[in-house]
Amino acid sequence: MCAPDGHPMAVARTFKPRRRRMSQTRSAAFAELLPVFGLDVEGPPTSAEEIFERSAPVALEIGCGAGEAAIASALAEPDVDLIAADVHTPGIARLLVDLHSNELTNLRVIHGDALEFINRLPTPTFTEIRIWFPDPWPKPRQRQRRLVTELIIGRLVPWIVGGGRLRMATDIDDYVEQMLAVCLAHPELDGGIVVRPSDRPVTRFERKAVEAGRVVTDLAFVRLL
Ligand SMILES: C[S@@+](CC[C@H](N)C(=O)[O-])C[C@H]1O[C@@H](n2cnc3c(N)ncnc32)[C@H](O)[C@@H]1O
Repeated sequence: MCAPDGHPMAVARTFKPRRRRMSQTRSAAFAELLPVFGLDVEGPPTSAEEIFERSAPVALEIGCGAGEAAIASALAEPDVDLIAADVHTPGIARLLVDLHSNELTNLRVIHGDALEFINRLPTPTFTEIRIWFPDPWPKPRQRQRRLVTELIIGRLVPWIVGGGRLRMATDIDDYVEQMLAVCLAHPELDGGIVVRPSDRPVTRFERKAVEAGRVVTDLAFVRLL
């Protein structure tokens, strides 16, 4: 089922493309590195084994921004393969530059909608899906754009392996409530609020939240076997 603009799932997009100019150097790096480290949102079916040329646990980070967490996680966990996705072009450009300079072989990048890309992979694929500081969409009429909704989580769960995890962090109180309600209502998820995990790198949005005095909450849910 497709939305009128052809977007699968018949849901509003969870992002709004932001236009920001990039420096010439950054644009050149983006053009050079995306074909090397990027994965096309649309294309033939593929698999994590084919992408990373090995068999290993695979994580998906949805909304990686400029990729600080993705780079830090890929460096800290060389035995885990990570696919990091965002639609924000300057952020992805920065991530590509850092990926290249760190010579990471366990990180690949989606410049586009992660919810569309996963259709290229078999279910289940991911040992973890990570959503760090999703857009809050605070106005009531924007709520349908939130990433953690019953519809979207229902769609993501089949891609998590049994015993794998859905991990989230947010600084928006009513989003914590929404994450809890949505995930606890899912028959195959179990979990809740957790102490800030030491392996979750600090992201740009987390820094901004802490500077503004907001409280950050981490949540983790396991897909039941
Ligand atoms: C508030 S930012 C947080 C960025 C980063 N995780 C951080 O903590 O600094 C949320 C990001 O999610 C991205 N996003 C939202 N929906 C997405 C989707 N379906 N696929 C890929 N990226 C998405 C947005 O473009 C935005 O850059």
